Amino acid sequence: RPGHDLVVVANRLPVDSRTLPDGATEWVTSPGGLVTAMESVMRTVDSGAWVGWAGTPGQQPAPFEADGMSLYPVRLDQEEIERYYEGYSNATLWPLYHDVIVAPVFHRTWWDSYVTANRRFARTAAPTASEGGTIWVHDYQLQLVPRMIREDRADVRIGFFNHIPFPSVELFSQLPKRNQILRGLLGADLVGFQRESDAQNFLAAVRKLLGYHVDGQTISVPGLGAAPVREVVAQTFPISIDSTAVSALTEEPELRERAMQLRRDLGNPQHVVLGVDRLDYTKGIRHRLKAWGELLGDGSIDPRETVMIQVATPSRERVEAYQQLRDEVELIVGRINGDHSSIGRAAVSYQHRSFDRRDMTALFMAADVVLVTALRDGMNLVAKEYVASRPDLRGVLVLSEFAGAADELRAAVMVNPHDIDELKAAILRALALTDEEQEEAMRSLRHQVMENDVQAWAHDFLQRLEHSGAPDRGPK
Ligand code: G6P
Repeated sequence: RPGHDLVVVANRLPVDSRTLPDGATEWVTSPGGLVTAMESVMRTVDSGAWVGWAGTPGQQPAPFEADGMSLYPVRLDQEEIERYYEGYSNATLWPLYHDVIVAPVFHRTWWDSYVTANRRFARTAAPTASEGGTIWVHDYQLQLVPRMIREDRADVRIGFFNHIPFPSVELFSQLPKRNQILRGLLGADLVGFQRESDAQNFLAAVRKLLGYHVDGQTISVPGLGAAPVREVVAQTFPISIDSTAVSALTEEPELRERAMQLRRDLGNPQHVVLGVDRLDYTKGIRHRLKAWGELLGDGSIDPRETVMIQVATPSRERVEAYQQLRDEVELIVGRINGDHSSIGRAAVSYQHRSFDRRDMTALFMAADVVLVTALRDGMNLVAKEYVASRPDLRGVLVLSEFAGAADELRAAVMVNPHDIDELKAAILRALALTDEEQEEAMRSLRHQVMENDVQAWAHDFLQRLEHSGAPDRGPK
């Protein structure tokens, strides 16, 4: 059977198609951490394929080749985008899995569409894998896909990786159709999570809601195929970035010049403080801006000396909670700037757009402090990108303990972003660190990020998957 040895299935392809005014199609990099990580993994794989949605409604473009891999676009019509993607994925699962920072919304029609869309991804992916090959399914939008593929292809190894948190069993239990979700995931041989607490939450849900036997990381799943029992492993694999590539970019003279130009454009302030996030309520942007506004208001920070840049990448703009968030964030930024900007110099430089990799790196090189203050986050790759961008060992990372990265990046200035006073104190502490203190912390952070890159992460996952043998398939 011809086909690909490794097939990645994710809601999005690594590129989004855009229709230009003249009718031509343009492809741009898709947003988010999943694509950042998996794109660099797939560039190093021979005979790889990626199955996903091209980011626009309607027509299904034919499979095509890009960056040495085969891309298989999956069609979603307008109603599916509203129900499967904006609805069940991003207004039900996303807030529920992020500890209900906003209230999840449940609609039965959304669930129906989630099932239909998951089936289409599974049907597109199943035939693309070679005999005995590997299919690696990603993230909360596709939790039913592992089981659906297994029903078609008993010969392939199936991995699933959840890029976002997995909630406590109390919260997960609220989800209508929760057992179908668990059974969908258990179609995989290996289910991977970012943090140990995510894996533990999943195992607890399987035990409590399905009553399956769990021994350590191994779940005994009553047989789907010929065998009476299959073993599924749930394990932690903290995701990372292409650390060497990011670090190497900072050596380019052109980017160094761009970083210096950025500081000049800002009026050569003493300190540049940076936040970079998808415009998402999980990222704690409001809390951060509140702290910043208070620091300016009480005189702890002088806006003539210290400038804040907040990059807010547009995201899920048709979902109500995201529209509300944008309004709130822009109101706060407007107030801060009204109170503290001078003509020609904004207290907060707010950028509502996405930056490409090179511009992003220049921003990191120009920033003295980066604030990653997510209220809840699977990993947060911005934290790791900043560290990789500082081979000069300068700069300070302020990091929320509610981001997955907090398990590894212990040398950051840690903060509970819900506590505005603590957040303010952490920002002031970060700004006050001496060069020696910055170096010491950054050296330790870099050790972590450079040693544990995304290639090692993918290798560990696939290696573990290779060794997880479902009895009904036998050794490869
Ligand atoms: C997070 C999720 C990804 C998602 C990305 C961007 O990183 O884990 O699955 O693709 O956000 O969100 P979007 O809805 O635009 O794909």
